[in-house]
Amino acid sequence: MPIPSSLTTYNLQLTTAGPIGVFDSGYGGLTVLKEIVKELPQYSYLYLGDNARAPYGPRSFETVYHYTLQCVEWFFSQGCSLVILACNTASAKALRNIQQKDLPNIAPDKRVLGVIRPTTEVLGQYTHTNKVGIVGTTGTVQSQSYPIEIAKFYPDIKVYQEACPMWVPLIENNEYNNPGADYFVEKHLHNLLKQDADIDTLLLACTHYPLLIDKLRHFTPAHITILSQGEIVAKSLSDYLQRHPAIENKCLQTGTLDFYTTDDTTDFDNKATIFWGDKVQSKHAVI
Ligand code: DGL
Repeated sequence: MPIPSSLTTYNLQLTTAGPIGVFDSGYGGLTVLKEIVKELPQYSYLYLGDNARAPYGPRSFETVYHYTLQCVEWFFSQGCSLVILACNTASAKALRNIQQKDLPNIAPDKRVLGVIRPTTEVLGQYTHTNKVGIVGTTGTVQSQSYPIEIAKFYPDIKVYQEACPMWVPLIENNEYNNPGADYFVEKHLHNLLKQDADIDTLLLACTHYPLLIDKLRHFTPAHITILSQGEIVAKSLSDYLQRHPAIENKCLQTGTLDFYTTDDTTDFDNKATIFWGDKVQSKHAVI
């Protein structure tokens, strides 16, 4: 008896697995992807940097939401069932809307996760004084996402924030290791740390900032723990996949890595190497 075509399509969809999508406005998400691949090398990954429209940090809520949703839809069109927004600005300004408003209509069986929740969940393990400093883009800081999320898990933690709008451009322009960067690094750290002498944990709430780690360490008192998100997000993803077998089954396990950018690929490949630590060969994505 012939199988009705609608049933064949349904079965095909059930067995089709796709790569895990990892998104950032530009290069920063590569610092997260690197740790994810270390933790979960068996899966296949698709990275997209929206370089043509970066930086997202200074943009409005509406714009970041609009751009991020377009990129999420692009991941879905590439067969991804799980997308990680490895960008704090997009996580702060777009994730909630996408999860609550868009996904139920456009892709109820797909998932989009961010980097803010996994980070805030574990913050209490690091601070002893319950005073935490957050550095991020203007968008992330203005959204108040970190203080709101941290209060849910750790109501006793006092959160201090500082927006560092110059740090992403310094990194994107490969100036982050030069003496010119010192002024902006020191200035923002000073603004943050002067708010409370008992801050003992500094969270890098921007996926670009791990590149500044040497300078940050240099200008931060030694007793302060500096936290990057890569490892935290990777461990949280591993845990998520174990707890959600239905999604895990839709994640392809061929160990492949594909890089896409919305801008020029040669430019992307040159700069991405700094973040990735190895040669990158990207393709152009039309969004
Ligand atoms: N990497 C992004 C983040 O984590 C910021 C870069 C940008 O401003 O586009 O917030």
